[in-house]
Amino acid sequence: MQSLHSFSSLSVLAPPVRLQKPTKTPNFVTIKSCINRNPKEESGSKARSWVSPDWLTSLTKSLTITQSDESNIPVASAKLDDVTDLLGGALFLPLFKWMNVYGPIYRLAAGPRNFVVVSDPAIAKHVLRNYGTKYAKGLVSEVSEFLFGSGFAIAEGPLWMGRRRAVAPSLHKKYLSVIVDRVFCKCAERLVERLQTDALNGTAVNMEEKFSQLTLDVIGLSVFNYNFDSLTADSPVIDAVYTALKEAELRSTDILPYWKVKALCKIVPRQIKAEKAVTVIRKTVEELIIKCKEIVETEGERIDDEEYVNDSDPSILRFLLASREEVSSVQLRDDLLSMLVAGHETTGSVLTWTLYLLSKDCNSLMKAQEEIDRVLQGRSASFEDIKDLKFLTRCINESMRLYPHPPVLIRRAQVDDVLPGNYKVNAGQDIMISVYNIHHSSQVWERAEEFLPERFDLEGPMPNETNTDFRFIPFSGGPRKCVGDQFALLEAIVALAILLQNMNFELVPDQNINMTTGATIHTTNGLYMKLRQRQHLNSFVSTSR
Ligand code: HEM
Repeated sequence: MQSLHSFSSLSVLAPPVRLQKPTKTPNFVTIKSCINRNPKEESGSKARSWVSPDWLTSLTKSLTITQSDESNIPVASAKLDDVTDLLGGALFLPLFKWMNVYGPIYRLAAGPRNFVVVSDPAIAKHVLRNYGTKYAKGLVSEVSEFLFGSGFAIAEGPLWMGRRRAVAPSLHKKYLSVIVDRVFCKCAERLVERLQTDALNGTAVNMEEKFSQLTLDVIGLSVFNYNFDSLTADSPVIDAVYTALKEAELRSTDILPYWKVKALCKIVPRQIKAEKAVTVIRKTVEELIIKCKEIVETEGERIDDEEYVNDSDPSILRFLLASREEVSSVQLRDDLLSMLVAGHETTGSVLTWTLYLLSKDCNSLMKAQEEIDRVLQGRSASFEDIKDLKFLTRCINESMRLYPHPPVLIRRAQVDDVLPGNYKVNAGQDIMISVYNIHHSSQVWERAEEFLPERFDLEGPMPNETNTDFRFIPFSGGPRKCVGDQFALLEAIVALAILLQNMNFELVPDQNINMTTGATIHTTNGLYMKLRQRQHLNSFVSTSR
């Protein structure tokens, strides 16, 4: 959410981005690292990054970081071009390297901008909690405004506050319980059914791609009651969603934001394509709003309690229309699009990396499957079961520690401020909070690089920013914290429970699984797995719920 949530690499965060359109299973076994997810598209060119030429960085440094800098913040001497090839394009990784050299706060001149990079929980807490008084989101909206318009994930100030207050109540407990059964379980079961053919044929499956399709279907149904059906079909709307998300990602890494010039958007082919895609998406959502509005009007529907859910259409759109709040259709459309993007690729990436980590750790995988069998007794999962899937939940928590999405959060100081530790920042300063660094720092976590699900007490509360004092912030913290955190965790638990209950997964050997970024952490070339159908008590496929 990237992304609205997020910011991809280092520059401007882009929305959670689906980077790749589904592709056919490759015939190869060895997968090499590369920077671009679609090497064909950009073959021959040097790796693109947000990093601009060194001369521009040096110029920025000399203009913005003066000798008389009294901020107390060390300046990183960084030549990013030197390391991007090395690191396979995961641009948050150099930030980690420099944290180990310069400490938990340093200043970085990057192309035309200079950033203060924060890797310390106390400073992160200060910046995130002071959103709205001392800090704003800043750069985020620049790259994604073409898609989100005034959607609340990128809006600032009173508009953001009003819309967040209107939308957040739609994700109440009863809604979540209905959506678990009607959407999360159903979509995961459909995925298992589709994977059975691959299991029988012994085909290697790119699970990253499958999870992206699954989470798109889930978010479409949950937010608009719209079935993308991307697991089984291709459609102009799905293509448009991928094109628009890809554009947001590219914008986050463009050195020159030429797309700010409206006239250029009319002639540059990439921009024409992106504009067309946004038109398709907006039209689809507008039509859904009109249809839903008609139904609500005809039925005279009105919310009668805080936990209102319409039985035939439990979507967030229906809730918002039935709440009869005064809001323009355009604002509603942009808010819903924000939810779609923020909730899609983030959860897909969590599923990808959790499955990867489990496939590398037989003991944890076995433990998770034993728990699933014991709790579900061969049934499909239900809302009530989720609290008992404690170990699986901790695997997901731990996966989000090691692979946070987005890996970096961006803020801009609105006033001069002094950060904990007596570091001074001036108004206008862009700040990157490296969630990845905080989560991987040996100053913050013991055995930080290891996958240890039980580091979070199985019987304890769900780890979050408050009970870890900002050591664990996968959903951010402060006023702009993710509104979909419960939704996302439930979705991930249900999807993995149903998949692991029915299938065994084995990594295709000799793959190099490297990281790269859009708004979330992706693999460079997919996560290819061989599947085997799993014998368990009473497969849902035969009992068919
Ligand atoms: C595991 C999956 C997810 C992760 C890791 C995640 C992460 C985040 C993070 C880190 C932020 C805050 C960004 C910042 O502070 O700048 C955020 C914001 C947001 N997320 Fe999520 N998210 C996830 C799933 C979802 C889902 C499923 C939804 C919707 C149902 C959602 C909706 C939003 C929205 C609307 C915002 C913007 C909130 C605001 O600005 O007030 N997210 N998310």
